[in-house]
Amino acid sequence: MEKIILDVDTGIDDALAILLAVESGRFDILGITAVNGNVPLDYVIKNTKKVLKHTGKESINVYKGASRPILIEPFHEYSVHGNDGIGGALSSIEVDSDDVADMFAPDFIIEQAERHQGELTLIMVGPLTNLALALRKEPRLAKWIKQVVVMGGLVSEAGKGNTLPTSEFNMYADAEAAKMVFHSGIPLKLVSLDVTKKTFLTSEDIEKLKGTHYYDFVKECTAVYRKYSEENYGVNGCALHDPLTVGVVLDPTLVTTASYFVDIETKSELSYGQTICDFGNLWNKEPNVEICLDVDSERFISMFIDTLKNTIN
Ligand code: BDR
Ligand code: CA
Repeated sequence: MEKIILDVDTGIDDALAILLAVESGRFDILGITAVNGNVPLDYVIKNTKKVLKHTGKESINVYKGASRPILIEPFHEYSVHGNDGIGGALSSIEVDSDDVADMFAPDFIIEQAERHQGELTLIMVGPLTNLALALRKEPRLAKWIKQVVVMGGLVSEAGKGNTLPTSEFNMYADAEAAKMVFHSGIPLKLVSLDVTKKTFLTSEDIEKLKGTHYYDFVKECTAVYRKYSEENYGVNGCALHDPLTVGVVLDPTLVTTASYFVDIETKSELSYGQTICDFGNLWNKEPNVEICLDVDSERFISMFIDTLKNTIN
């Protein structure tokens, strides 16, 4: 089984990513690391623990990570994810956000990467603060990790960001951290808005889960997101940004990829957090990121639904 650490800022689609990772049965999940992002860190931890409890896998440890970005002030995404981050779902599940594993998330990443050199995959679906802090403390991490698969940015679709016209949320929420990660030499795959915006879980898709353990949760937690998306993009659906990132680790053939040099803008007010891909190699630099160019969305949505249907819960 593939050893992974999942880094989350739970978040509606983070919650769905956790379900996919857990229910795939294909991962040895060493731990889940939490980072400030969609909502403040305490909510991220609470939501993550609630989701794990709902899957029956509370034994997976949650590690508390960075409570704020490296340099800028925290920025949250309540309009998309609701006030609590998971659209008010799982409100009856009691968890204690202080009940976390006794290690800072970046230290846990370093410890596990050293122990499992060449074997550990990091799946990062929030701002990259935890990984940036880990790399700052232990630069050899870049050599120890098998691969880092990141949900973030947009490369071909310039101007179609979701936080600024140029910028995607995870990159915008801590662009300094993203820059440190992109310049670290760590093996990176970027699952950007270019492909994640093509993987929409519609209300019709959700009905296919009727009668299963996850139907109510998926329906309820995505309601606020689907409403936002209907008002803004005319589709009653939830973009599966973070689940697709997990999906790409489960089945890399879901996406077509190519390698380029990508850098992160950190100085501009207009385009803070932009992922700039040097398609024409004008900077004459070695590729540092494998980007995703296209996705087989239908196959991925089926994988997602089938995985959640075929559980023993
Ligand atoms: C990303 O930002 C968050 O709002 C989502 O959870 C996802 O990780 C999409 O831009
Ligand atoms: Ca996320």
